[in-house]
Amino acid sequence: MTTVPFLKRAREAHKVVVLTGAGVSVASGLKPYRGPGGLWTTNSELASRVVAGVDAEILWTVTCDWRKELANAQPNAAHSALVAFERNLTTRGGAFTLITQNVDGLHTKAGSLNVIEFHGTLKRSRCAAACGAAPYIDERDEGPVPTCERCGAPVRPDIVLFNEVIGAHEDWTAKRALRDADLFVAIGTSGTVSPASNFVRSAAYAGAHTVLMNLEAPDSAPFTEVIRGEAQTLVPELFA
Ligand code: OAD
Repeated sequence: MTTVPFLKRAREAHKVVVLTGAGVSVASGLKPYRGPGGLWTTNSELASRVVAGVDAEILWTVTCDWRKELANAQPNAAHSALVAFERNLTTRGGAFTLITQNVDGLHTKAGSLNVIEFHGTLKRSRCAAACGAAPYIDERDEGPVPTCERCGAPVRPDIVLFNEVIGAHEDWTAKRALRDADLFVAIGTSGTVSPASNFVRSAAYAGAHTVLMNLEAPDSAPFTEVIRGEAQTLVPELFA
C-alpha cells in the first residue's frame, strides 16, 4: 500500500474533493452494482428497469425493494471518518466537498455536511411528470404508486436513472469544487459511469493530486495514486 504520498497530501491539502461510490456502503450491508456480488452481475435484468422512461409501476416496485434494504442500513467506519475529516479540515480553514454517487443517504445520516448527492437520493420522491412540485422526503416502501398532490401524475424516487441528466445544481456545484481542488480522492467506485468517472480528469486538470481507494484495481487508472483495500479499513486509517 503506497500510503506515504497520500498522507502527506492529505495533511497539506486545503481544498479536498472526495467522490464516493457503492463500495463505501458495502460494510453497511448494501450491495455494490459491479464487482464481486454486484447487483448488475447477480440480477442483470434489474439494470434494465432503472432507465429513463421506465414504467411508473415497475420503478415503484424497485424503489420499494431498495427502500426496504436501506431501512436498517447504518453508516460505517468509512462514512464516520469522512465526517471527522471534514470537521478537521474546515476547522483549519480548508474546504471539503463530498460528491457521492450513492442514493442511500448514508453520508448525510453519518453527519457529513457539504454533500452533493450526484445521483439523487432514495430518501426523496418527486413528481414523475416534473410538474414543478418540489421533491419531498419520502421513505414509503409499500403500497400502490403514489400520485403527485399537485398534478396527479405518478410519483418516482428522486434519483437519476440511466440515460437521465444530472441535476443542474449538483452538476454545477460538483464542477465548481473540482475546479478548485488540490486533492481528489475517489473511494469505492468502479469509475465506469459518466460523468462522475471523468471527475478525476477535471481534478487533475485543476492541478490536484488524484487518488483511488478501491477494493479492485481498475483496468486503466488515470489516478496519480491507487490504494487497494476496503473503504471501511482504509478511510479511517488514511483520513485520520
Ligand atoms: P460500482 O458497483 O460500479 O463499483 C463499486 C466498486 O467498489 C467496485 O469497483 C468494487 O470493487 C468496489 N468495492 C466493493 N466493496 C468495497 C469495499 N468494501 N471497499 C472499497 N471498495 C469496494 O459502484 P459505483 O461506481 O458507485 O448509478 O457505480 C456508479 C453508478 O453506477 C451508481 O451510482 C449507479 C450505478 O449504475 C445510477 O444508478 C445512475
